[in-house]
Amino acid sequence: MSIKKIAPTLVAVAVATVLTACQAQETKTGSAVSGKSMAAKTAQSGPPPLAPLGAPPIPPDNKQTPAKIELGKILFFDPRLGGDASTGCSTCHEPDQGWAWAEDFSRGYPGTVHWRNSQTIINSAYYARNFWAGSVPSLEKQAPSAAKGGVAGNGENDIMESRLALIPGYRKRFKEVFGTEWPLIGDAWRAIAAFERTLVQRDTPLDKYLLGDKNALTEQQVQGMALFNGKAGCIQCHNGELASDQDYYNIGVPPNKRWEEDGLAQVTFRFELYAKGMTEEGYRTTKADPGFYFRGKNTWDKGKFRTPSLRYTAFTAPYMHNGIFYTMEDVVDFYNRGGFDEDGRTTAFAENKSKLIKPLGLTDEEKENLVAFLEAFSGEEMLMEKPAMPEYAPLFTRAELEAAQEEK
Ligand code: HEC
Ligand code: HEC
Repeated sequence: MSIKKIAPTLVAVAVATVLTACQAQETKTGSAVSGKSMAAKTAQSGPPPLAPLGAPPIPPDNKQTPAKIELGKILFFDPRLGGDASTGCSTCHEPDQGWAWAEDFSRGYPGTVHWRNSQTIINSAYYARNFWAGSVPSLEKQAPSAAKGGVAGNGENDIMESRLALIPGYRKRFKEVFGTEWPLIGDAWRAIAAFERTLVQRDTPLDKYLLGDKNALTEQQVQGMALFNGKAGCIQCHNGELASDQDYYNIGVPPNKRWEEDGLAQVTFRFELYAKGMTEEGYRTTKADPGFYFRGKNTWDKGKFRTPSLRYTAFTAPYMHNGIFYTMEDVVDFYNRGGFDEDGRTTAFAENKSKLIKPLGLTDEEKENLVAFLEAFSGEEMLMEKPAMPEYAPLFTRAELEAAQEEK
């Protein structure tokens, strides 16, 4: 074999090796946006740099169409997709509360309180896995779990589907979009997912800056960015387009005191432990949310949560899986102390705390610069009017029924 013939083979092998490494990386982090991050990783071997946000991935089996997106929007705001028709998606993801719920724990289904902080819908389309502990692999799978979950929508598939069938406006739209004579509940989740994929924000000051508009950030924010990438070490986990590596860490967030003081919150917490298959001993002794532990039941995963994006956070306070911090200043102080709150409390699973979290030694001015930079991850607030809801009507009128009987 001549040299000329060998060379392309070697190139092919080299390319294949890089591809395999990328694929391995992708399975580890499960990242939907890791394609580009990977390129950055191989080039410089540190964490991928912050990057402008591209278009969200669209699954080939749930293409975006205007009619589907419009249907999904109405369904997102319709509380009839839930148990007693009181609690729909927008109930806990209010557009004017950052498409989330502005309390530490989210509100719950009537008679309950949720056990985690409500996440924003903005940019949720980019995550390879949704929820604080990454328990679902897509928005299509996320929606039913929310609409049916005991402390969320608490709905039943068959009754929710029957309601849709009794709403002529929905029958018409489902037929138009999915070609079915009657609405199918699975298609409702697909439409909602399509709507959620339109709720993205890609024109923040940071995006503009990274795309070349050097005036998009203030001098203070530029200094904050240097801290973010350097002394404060935030970039180690909050990196790439989403400012999230989509990996799971225990960063030291202390348990929410509400579990010690609020009976209803305690009921939810015990229920969730039980429902997620906690061991008998764990059920009796666990004092805090084990998070990612529920995925593989590995003790070393207790207290780990998915790195959240920092985008849109100007509108989504309070922060962390249990909403324990109400301001960015509190968050930065928490990191600066090495993962401790102002009372010196840290995670209930301290043995799992990430080695990357340690005292940062930031001065007051540096903390201010960092907080100023964190604001650059958010653009304008994205508000939306609630759409008009189509009304119930019987499947057929009395006259139609009599006419049909006469025909027989
Ligand atoms: C009772 C309140 C409540 C209702 C109702 C509710 N959610 Fe949520 N949502 C939450 C909370 C709390 C979380 C975080 C839960 C967790 O991680 O365990 C969440 C998480 C999510 C996420 C994940 C975002 C991310 O960053 O991964 C999406 C998407 C979402 N909800 C969409 C919906 C949709 C669609 C519906 C309606 C079908 C809905 N939610 C109904 C409270 C609610
Ligand atoms: C070791 C990885 C890691 C590092 C380093 C890190 N974070 Fe985080 N960050 C996380 C994880 C994981 C969470 C969610 C933790 C939880 O809820 O328990 C989080 C949560 C946050 C939140 C809350 C976002 C929300 O939507 O609730 C903010 C803000 C934040 N981090 C900012 C920073 C800043 C600023 C720095 C640098 C000083 C930093 N992070 C360093 C992993 C990290």
